[in-house]
Amino acid sequence: MKSTTVIAGCMNWGQWGAKFSTQAYLTHIKKTLELGIDTFDHADIYGHYTTEEEFGRALQLDPSLRSKMRLITKCGICMVTPHRPLHQIKSYNTSKTHILASAEQSLSNFHTDYIDLLLIHRPDPLMNPHEIAEAFTILKQSGKVKHFGVSNFTVSQFSMLHNLFPLEVNQIELSILHTKPFYDGVTDQCIDKRIIPQAWSPLGAGKIHLDAEDERSRRIISMSNIVGEKYGASFDQILLAWLMKHPSGIVPVLGTTKIERLKSSLEAATIDMTNEEWHMLLRASNGVDVP
Ligand SMILES: NC(=O)c1ccc[n+]([C@@H]2O[C@H](COP(=O)([O-])OP(=O)(O)OC[C@H]3O[C@@H](n4cnc5c(N)ncnc54)[C@H](OP(=O)(O)O)[C@@H]3O)[C@@H](O)[C@H]2O)c1
Repeated sequence: MKSTTVIAGCMNWGQWGAKFSTQAYLTHIKKTLELGIDTFDHADIYGHYTTEEEFGRALQLDPSLRSKMRLITKCGICMVTPHRPLHQIKSYNTSKTHILASAEQSLSNFHTDYIDLLLIHRPDPLMNPHEIAEAFTILKQSGKVKHFGVSNFTVSQFSMLHNLFPLEVNQIELSILHTKPFYDGVTDQCIDKRIIPQAWSPLGAGKIHLDAEDERSRRIISMSNIVGEKYGASFDQILLAWLMKHPSGIVPVLGTTKIERLKSSLEAATIDMTNEEWHMLLRASNGVDVP
């Protein structure tokens, strides 16, 4: 599924963050679309199963918005919350029944008849790829979901399912603070199979800003500022440009609840840092040169 160069992550819009009112959701959706960002990332569990519904309530105020956007959501994590009284323990469920029921619930929450991209949120030790493929096939054939992918899957977990059903996305944690996918084969696989890596927490969930006094953060901030000066770019823009330079075509899923930060992130795509600058930032993250 093609998306804009960045995706608006909605995890922090509701109960888990900004606690937007319905009107604030509507304004935020409209302003995000006006910026040219048309893809919104959700999960059934966000806001303890309330964020999709809140977003959907805003969409009801202006149903014309639905056709202008792409909606991503996820399923497979079961959280303990008063909104799901039957759950006794946090667990995973990737059974066919659960996937189908979760997708139906998301469709109803959003007041829409299709989801653009459905992801299995986390690899489930009990997952049966045949069952997942069966559920995905039913959702595809009914037109209720257009595209499919996974999140946080290793290379072998991805292949196991991809061999049965064509996946398009692996949404993974990836930032200058979390570079593991560059070394464990995940981004290599994305290039090899033409899979889109979507990077969640592309700014380390704001940790670099919060831990600005920690030695590693200080190194990264200082090097980003040096590189940023050359391009007239902010610290955040440099960190996003650093991800976007990777040949796998990383699409950052931004967690900010501020329109100004979303706007500024778009300019990151225009920064073409040099190979050496990229490695200077990597060294700032690792604290040592590459071997
Ligand atoms: N698939 C998965 O397993 C998974 C897991 C986690 C998240 N996600 C998705 O990824 C999205 C992004 O995750 P994230 O929220 O961790 O991403 P992030 O973009 O790395 O971090 C966002 C946080 O950083 C803060 N921030 C950003 N720029 C800042 C600045 N210049 N100064 C101070 N604070 C700043 C934001 O605060 P403000 O709101 O104030 O800007 C927000 O709290 C989520 O919304 C969700 O859609 C997926």
